[in-house]
Amino acid sequence: MKKGIGIGLLGLGVVGSGVAQVLLQKADFLERQAGSPLSLKRVLVRHPGKRRSLKIAPALLTTRAEDILQDPAVDIVVEVIGGESPAREYIREALQRGKSVVTANKEVMAKYGPELLSLAGEKGVFLHFEASVGGGIPLIAPFQRDIRANDIRGIHAIINGTCNYILTRMAREGAEFAEALKSAQELGYAEADPTNDIEGIDASYKLAILASLAFQMVVRPEDVYREGISRLALRDFKFARELGYAIRLLAIAKRDGDSVEVRVHPVLLPEDYLLAKVDGVFNAVQVEGDLFGKLLFYGQGAGALPTASAVVTDILAIAQKLRCAAPDSSRVSFDQQLRASSPWPRSGRATICG
Ligand code: HSE
Repeated sequence: MKKGIGIGLLGLGVVGSGVAQVLLQKADFLERQAGSPLSLKRVLVRHPGKRRSLKIAPALLTTRAEDILQDPAVDIVVEVIGGESPAREYIREALQRGKSVVTANKEVMAKYGPELLSLAGEKGVFLHFEASVGGGIPLIAPFQRDIRANDIRGIHAIINGTCNYILTRMAREGAEFAEALKSAQELGYAEADPTNDIEGIDASYKLAILASLAFQMVVRPEDVYREGISRLALRDFKFARELGYAIRLLAIAKRDGDSVEVRVHPVLLPEDYLLAKVDGVFNAVQVEGDLFGKLLFYGQGAGALPTASAVVTDILAIAQKLRCAAPDSSRVSFDQQLRASSPWPRSGRATICG
């Protein structure tokens, strides 16, 4: 039985700072849950001298990824750098070296999830990615475990907090697009390059992950039809309101025979629909299954602490498994004979009802 779990943190941006804060400030509480201490060994940063609001011992900081990836005292590598490279290479190397990984990286999981999960399986370690979709909302674990008795019929989701925040402020306050985006960046919701948020790219990564799990097939980001919110103007919100609609960026996956249609685009939703009432940084994922009918997951989809909630919960889950040398009960398969399609025409500004 293992005593003490060593953690190496790659990245100390918005999410990384939230994770470090939780690990340091809730150490006793987490130790009771994990059954052994969770010890933050090293943190990879770009600028060690940078002023930070988080109080962290300077000796913990390093600019060399190998100080974490090659340290035998690190059991779990937490990747919160974001973006494809070097995050993908770091995750791969950590798994190769027999370390478990927790990542919040939707781009890497959407593009390389199946191969990384299979590498983790070969090496007998764990790869958890709860924070990659929906920030603080538990989605990956329920999709991997709790709803698997169902044939999933469809997913309708609001899974980009930045876009939902911008759309809400434009509709409610008449805020200009650029001003609302600037606030979303200041609040730590937006990606380093906000193009990924406003053009629906981030949502397409998250939809690819959810659809792959829901339909047990490989859905690639390029399979997803995608339109963002950058062409919406204040007059669109005025007309929508007059007609009794709210505008939301929806990510949709729908089973149709042996294919699954996947798309992300702005939608006009009747104001009394549940998804039309999801405001600000909140996300919501509505799933339809043959047994449970409709299920709704709702919560904060971005921000330091909601995302840290998902990351640290993943760390706890792995710590418990490492402590007891438990086998991985969350194996994922992607072998359903279904085809991903995105047959939607590239046309107007918003589609009624999805
Ligand atoms: N930029 C992302 C969003 C962060 O706004 O939803 C959480 O994945």
